[in-house]
Amino acid sequence: MVTAMDRLPNELRDRLMTARQAAALIGENCRVGFSGFTLVGYPRQVPREIAALGQAKNMRVLTGASVGEELDGALAEAGLMAYRAPYQSSKSLRAGINRGEIAYNDLHLSHLAGMLDNQGPEELDFAVLECAAVTKDGIVPAASVGASDCFVRRAKRVILELNYSLPAEFLGMHDIYREGTGCIPIFQPGDRIGSPCIPCPPEKIAAIVLTDSPAPCPSFKAPDELSWQLSENILRFLKGEVAAGRQPENLRPIQSGVGSVANSVLIGLGREFRDLRMYTEVMQDSAFELVRRGIITQASTTALSLSAEAREKFYGDLDFYKKHIVLRPQAIANNPEVIRRLRLISMNTPIEVDIYGNVNSTHIMGTQIMNGVGGSGDFARNAGLTIFATGSLAKGGAISCIVPMVSHVDHTEHDVDVIVTEYGAADLRWKSPRERAVCIIENCAHPDYRPQLREYFREACTVSRGQTPHILSKALSWHQRYVETGSMRL
Ligand code: COA
Repeated sequence: MVTAMDRLPNELRDRLMTARQAAALIGENCRVGFSGFTLVGYPRQVPREIAALGQAKNMRVLTGASVGEELDGALAEAGLMAYRAPYQSSKSLRAGINRGEIAYNDLHLSHLAGMLDNQGPEELDFAVLECAAVTKDGIVPAASVGASDCFVRRAKRVILELNYSLPAEFLGMHDIYREGTGCIPIFQPGDRIGSPCIPCPPEKIAAIVLTDSPAPCPSFKAPDELSWQLSENILRFLKGEVAAGRQPENLRPIQSGVGSVANSVLIGLGREFRDLRMYTEVMQDSAFELVRRGIITQASTTALSLSAEAREKFYGDLDFYKKHIVLRPQAIANNPEVIRRLRLISMNTPIEVDIYGNVNSTHIMGTQIMNGVGGSGDFARNAGLTIFATGSLAKGGAISCIVPMVSHVDHTEHDVDVIVTEYGAADLRWKSPRERAVCIIENCAHPDYRPQLREYFREACTVSRGQTPHILSKALSWHQRYVETGSMRL
């Protein structure tokens, strides 16, 4: 039995303190980098005490990506957070951002470490990390790496939440590598090129808080009928690519976003393909299950976002999973060089798509942030095949997810190869904007909205002509109509 003290070198024991004492180290105007990525591996005790103490006003908060309400929600609700980057998915934080009270910098996830290392205006005051152990070689993270390695590198002081409810056998799961100016030598998703721990000079560690509070598990919606339809259409498309000789029998490595569409696509892939590989930023239950069954043979990710049931299986056989799953820093998991080299198949979910293939992944009606761009831009622009899949309608049909012009652009027409809805797939490769418009409207739009879209496109081609026909006074009129009447329908 490995005790809490066994996970800590003797010389660091004088840094042990309570979460309240650690939180008290953080004063006003601090820049703090917290561990965590897609609701996994984020500290909870210290943020709770920071919020309760209320002294850390005007805090500038960085994370790997989304973290739970115990961190984002607590700091936002306590009115302590002045700035936040990059991806978030917290209700209270989102509300604060959309009220204009919290400055939100929605960075591409692969950019964060490079920005801190190369363009950082100054160092971080603190890095606050959840970890499974500390060894003489450094910090052993939990089920995500995110940007923690960079936060430790750039922070003046480090606060650790050592969670001894996490398996000590996490050591050996991670591959910590810092991007430099040379080539990143990853040629297969499973290649290990770095070290198992996050290096950290012991003198930087200001506090160690012991906890055995079990990490909360994300909950997932079971795939619904729409997710299965989207999954079927993606699978049909991919099988066509194999038949045409554009993909190998076992496909190129896969990146898949989060949510029920991603889950159903992976379940479907597991039925149709063997010897799959994954190079992604987050793995959910469905991907983990394919590793367990030997269908995914190599997987690289920066976070394992598992339900309680899947996590138990994972913890039960860590030595097996270490052979098949590599947890990397997000700067490497989402790295454009590696994504391009591996010619990934990238699959993500948009909020809306326009008739020319521009994609909005982040904003509702052009102004309100939903979550953020996350890694979708890292993958979309650099993958070998970029697919965006969405239902054709939102809000019970009041919104068409295919619109004349997106109200915000995250991925341009130049980055998008295929759009999929429950009605089919629009293959945009090698098509001009006018050809794309016909392809998207006829293959992907909901039949109720097709006449409206056809009419917009016909009028635009007649009135404005041009390479990408638009009627500027009407391009965003669908959104305006929704705001005014509650429906995009004419
Ligand atoms: N217009 C307005 N609202 C829309 C909409 C549209 N075209 N399409 C969806 N919505 C709303 C839904 O109604 C829902 O609202 P609610 O929370 O009030 O019910 C919300 O957006 C989320 O939609 P949902 O269908 O539940 O989708 P999801 O959980 O699959 O999330 C994104 C979709 C786009 C928000 C999510 O995938 C995301 O944040 N993507 C960006 C980052 C990314 O791609 N990450 C993966 C990279 S590896």
